[in-house]
Amino acid sequence: MLWKGEILLQVGARALAILSALTETPGRLVGKRELLERVWPDGRVDDANLKVQISTLRKALRGCEGLIRSESSLGYRFLGETVSSDPYLDTQRRCFLAPRLLTEPIGRDDVIADIASLLKESRLVTVLGPGGIGKTTVALAIVHRLADTFADETCFVDLGRIARDDQVCEALACALDLPVGEAPALEQIQFALQGRRLLLVLDSCEHVIDAVALLVEQVLTFSNEVMILVTSRESLRVGAEFVWHLEPLEVPPPGLVDPAASAARYPAVQLFMRTAADVSDDFAFDDDIAPAIVEVCRRLDGIPRAIEMTASMVGTLDIGEIRRSLDQRLSLLESDRPVGNLLRHSLLSTLHWRCDLLPFNERTVLRRLALLTGAFTLDAAVAVAADDVTDASVVREAVVALANKSFLIVNHQISPPEYRLFETVRAYAASPREEEENAAERRDRC
Ligand SMILES: Nc1ncnc2c1ncn2[C@@H]1O[C@H](COP(=O)(O)OP(=O)(O)OP(=O)(O)O)[C@@H](O)[C@H]1O
Ligand SMILES: [Mg+2]
Repeated sequence: MLWKGEILLQVGARALAILSALTETPGRLVGKRELLERVWPDGRVDDANLKVQISTLRKALRGCEGLIRSESSLGYRFLGETVSSDPYLDTQRRCFLAPRLLTEPIGRDDVIADIASLLKESRLVTVLGPGGIGKTTVALAIVHRLADTFADETCFVDLGRIARDDQVCEALACALDLPVGEAPALEQIQFALQGRRLLLVLDSCEHVIDAVALLVEQVLTFSNEVMILVTSRESLRVGAEFVWHLEPLEVPPPGLVDPAASAARYPAVQLFMRTAADVSDDFAFDDDIAPAIVEVCRRLDGIPRAIEMTASMVGTLDIGEIRRSLDQRLSLLESDRPVGNLLRHSLLSTLHWRCDLLPFNERTVLRRLALLTGAFTLDAAVAVAADDVTDASVVREAVVALANKSFLIVNHQISPPEYRLFETVRAYAASPREEEENAAERRDRC
């Protein structure tokens, strides 16, 4: 907080809110009731709380305490002069730095524009999808390209850096530059966000999803203008949430006539080409190589991270070899060759971890759905996955839950909606490890 004479104050969110109210119109008597309502909107305080905060402020003013004058029992007046640019707002309306976009997103222009419009309407949008599909990339593109058209400022919080639910509020308080530890983080956040048209991005929420859901509901309740963009592999399941299922990058359909020219129009192939060209000066995209690359992009489900990783190996490995490995389902992922290592560590370990966290019913249904190669309806899922122990309703619930956790792609454009397993998930669910689980489950039942 600065005013003429420039003193830097370090005070909690409540004291800051009081000072802000007083300095909005220097010299005006601000009544106690007005201050109480503004600073404690839930009304659960008395005059004593106000006195404590005023006393804190005066102490912090060090020698200039006379700037805040009490008016008998009516209220308080600020006697100083504030500078015209309203430095309080300047301090508050800083843009909290989001990471730079390292590469230009391919094939997402419409999605980026649509999500930005949605945020203006519904204030809470979750970009949902499996690891590496491009959620953070889309969120960052919104922040850097469009946020200033609908928000005064942005705050980006990378929750991938924390491990536990109880660290969520503190992470947000830190991102907002609030003094952590002085008051409960949530209260500070509440005051800091009042009246601000801010885009809050909560990135990588899946591992602390319950705490984020709680925080998001509170922030939406106590602020009217904050918009929240969440990226997660699992939805929040709160009332106000609009879930945006982020689709993989589009891959070409089978049977291309003019392979190189036609394939190069599809974003998944464009990403492969761009990455391969970055790592290999010799890389040339022609009709000979195009069908193999299309096949690889398809096998990788159009997932950008998997495509980038595979394409970055083009310098050292023949594309035909990569494709042959992918043909044997997870053989590339489980291979001991150098080409497999990166992918194995990222995709396979992620799949192990995610499947291990699934409740028993969902994991059972997922294994059974691995028999279905194409798209399927809920009825088809029931036909394949239900039995006398796992009945139809359990299967239906499990399919919806698996979609909400990004194991399945849902196509809501058609009725009834169709579901499809990501190819990597399907291959994993049908792998020997999961087969053993199946066998163990059957043995347990006998
Ligand atoms: N549309 C795109 N065009 C080009 N590259 C992309 C695109 N989307 C994602 N990528 C690249 O793919 C990689 C993974 O993207 P990103 O980190 O956004 O995925 P994510 O869904 O947030 O993953 P996670 O769930 O692990 O956080 C990044 O290296 C990113 O640069
Ligand atoms: Mg991410």
